[in-house]
Amino acid sequence: MVITSSIQEKINRLKTERKAIILAHNYELPDVQDVADFVGDSLLLSQRAAQTDAKVIVFCGVHFMAETAAILAPDKIVLIPDLDAGCSLAATITANDLRRWKQAYPNAVVVTYVNSTAEVKAESDYCVTSSNAVKVVESIPKDKEILFTPDMYLGKWVRQKTGRVIHLWPGSCHVHHKIKTEDIKALKSSHPQAEFIMHPECGCMSTCLPLADQVLSTEGMVNYARTSPKNEFIVATETGILHRMERDNPKKQFFPSTPDAVCEFMKMITLEKVLWSLEDMKYQVTVAPDIAKRAKRAIDRMVAIV
Ligand code: 13P
Ligand code: SF4
Repeated sequence: MVITSSIQEKINRLKTERKAIILAHNYELPDVQDVADFVGDSLLLSQRAAQTDAKVIVFCGVHFMAETAAILAPDKIVLIPDLDAGCSLAATITANDLRRWKQAYPNAVVVTYVNSTAEVKAESDYCVTSSNAVKVVESIPKDKEILFTPDMYLGKWVRQKTGRVIHLWPGSCHVHHKIKTEDIKALKSSHPQAEFIMHPECGCMSTCLPLADQVLSTEGMVNYARTSPKNEFIVATETGILHRMERDNPKKQFFPSTPDAVCEFMKMITLEKVLWSLEDMKYQVTVAPDIAKRAKRAIDRMVAIV
């Protein structure tokens, strides 16, 4: 049986040989985060992919994230260690669905959350992440109505923050759906000093928002936990994020909103699969040039507004 430390050594050796970098999302397994060159949210990882001079990017995240990296870094080889690492939210809309929706609102601007396929991005005017959705929508001329896809909770929150006319696609994430108002209330009463920070994908958005101290992307949450003078935090998002928070802040305490908020897709990427990915150069993620060209317009607008 292969022991963990030798897997890490092999990964590091192969990384140098292949001139590779490893990017990992904040929800990845702890040992995968620990072997990565950069850990971050969707926006930060997209920016890293665009900027790197490595030849190979091993993307430890879900498929749409690797696709975004492939679009932004067309001269690199982008690998995902497990091709089945999908996203329930991205799966709620197809390019055909979006084309039909656009026909009903021919003058609307389409704003698409990065959790979507490259084909859907190609049909969109703007792409956003949870960290810049409000700013991107504010940059769109005021007289334009907006079709927001696929996450309805993020879309509702953006609508509330901007006061814009926003039509919502009824998509949501099954992981953030497990986060319930009753659990937040119970945690707040047992930890009255704790700050409550939540991700805008949470299914309890309308009832949890009045209880929240901050609504943030995953990277925003990590940064907030580091800089806040408070010592306790209730964290409403996927539980993988607690690894970084606890490592960065050993004296602070973090309480997951529910231990059930686990993304099975993110957890498909194991340390062994990262090694096999580098050994066999698999599985390469590519996007057809015509789709990539159209999707890139929307993604470039996302990466430009931080
Ligand atoms: P972030 O962009 O905030 O990291 O979120 C990505 C995601 O998949 C949330 O479920
Ligand atoms: Fe997709 Fe939800 Fe997993 Fe994020 S947590 S990658 S939105 S399924």
